[in-house]
Amino acid sequence: MPDSISQMLDEALEAVRSAESLGDLAAAETRYLGRNKGLNELKRTIGSMPQAERPAFGARINEASTKLTEAVAERRAALEEVELNRRLAEETIDVTLPGRVLPAGRLHPLTTTSERIKAVLSGMGFEFVDGPELEDYAYNFAALNYPEDHPAMDEQNSFFVSDDQLLRTQTTALQGRIMSERRPPFRIATIGRCFRYEAVDATHHHTFHQVDVFMVDEKISMADLKGTLGSFARQMFGQETLVRFRPDFFPFVEPGVDYSIYWRGRWLELGGAGMIHPNILRAYGMSPDKYSGFAFGLGIERTHMIQTGVNDLRLYLENDLRFLRQY
Ligand code: FA5
Repeated sequence: MPDSISQMLDEALEAVRSAESLGDLAAAETRYLGRNKGLNELKRTIGSMPQAERPAFGARINEASTKLTEAVAERRAALEEVELNRRLAEETIDVTLPGRVLPAGRLHPLTTTSERIKAVLSGMGFEFVDGPELEDYAYNFAALNYPEDHPAMDEQNSFFVSDDQLLRTQTTALQGRIMSERRPPFRIATIGRCFRYEAVDATHHHTFHQVDVFMVDEKISMADLKGTLGSFARQMFGQETLVRFRPDFFPFVEPGVDYSIYWRGRWLELGGAGMIHPNILRAYGMSPDKYSGFAFGLGIERTHMIQTGVNDLRLYLENDLRFLRQY
């Protein structure tokens, strides 16, 4: 005749056996083995029993409890194995699938152009030095022989951050920094970002890049400038490239020129150049009777545009991958 203990045990074992998940099993375990629940609740009725029946009743409850605990552990192990197998099956890696290709980055065309210019000029003995983008007014203009309020400064409208500091408008600003520290002979080149307060169009930007090249030694002449620029242009644009000088004005050179290259059937203006102004040599303690030097500068964007036919300089700053991927 089934009594309350064996009835509850049967019921509990059935619940354990039919548990389909670890969650179901935990619920059954709580229902029959929890504190003040199931078998433990039954155990508490022992107090209302005749003394003589208590030991046997208690022993049978404990026996049922042990049996049930074992059944729960067994079922749990089985369910855990099922769960593990399910996850293993679900998370299998198909090693035959082709791998995902991570897109490789590439260098920006202005970087590759700068690197090429560096290689060419380094090969000609020029040492590369960096100058600051936030420059002193003194180096950007005053040290370059711009007289106070000279209209030439208006051609390079500037972003001033204070009365005496601005975002450099030309990499030529490095000249004064070098000349205040070094004695001739020196051959220096510098590449970097420049900024001008300009209306942006296809050939002008507020942010662009320049390279500046200068050297000072004894007996440096226009012939050295022409030879250096010619060699530079041929290495950059090809052996047939010709260079043409036309008079131009920059306060820091005398005589001053702009220069163009003859390339694919036409003359293209590349930058400015000239012999370093005697006032500048003098200002840095180099006698113009003994020393002379040349300087030239050009735009990096312009160089790449000529090489490739890109017709809008704004593209270099837009970071449009459809453009950048082509170079
Ligand atoms: C200069 O900046 C002189 N410092 C160059 C120089 C150096 C002359 C040494 C003599 C001796 P210019 O303002 O022309 O010159 O600029 C030189 C080149 O920089 C231009 O030919 C052009 O390629 C580039 N450039 C100038 N302004 C801009 C701009 N707003 N956007 C893009 N490129 C520019």
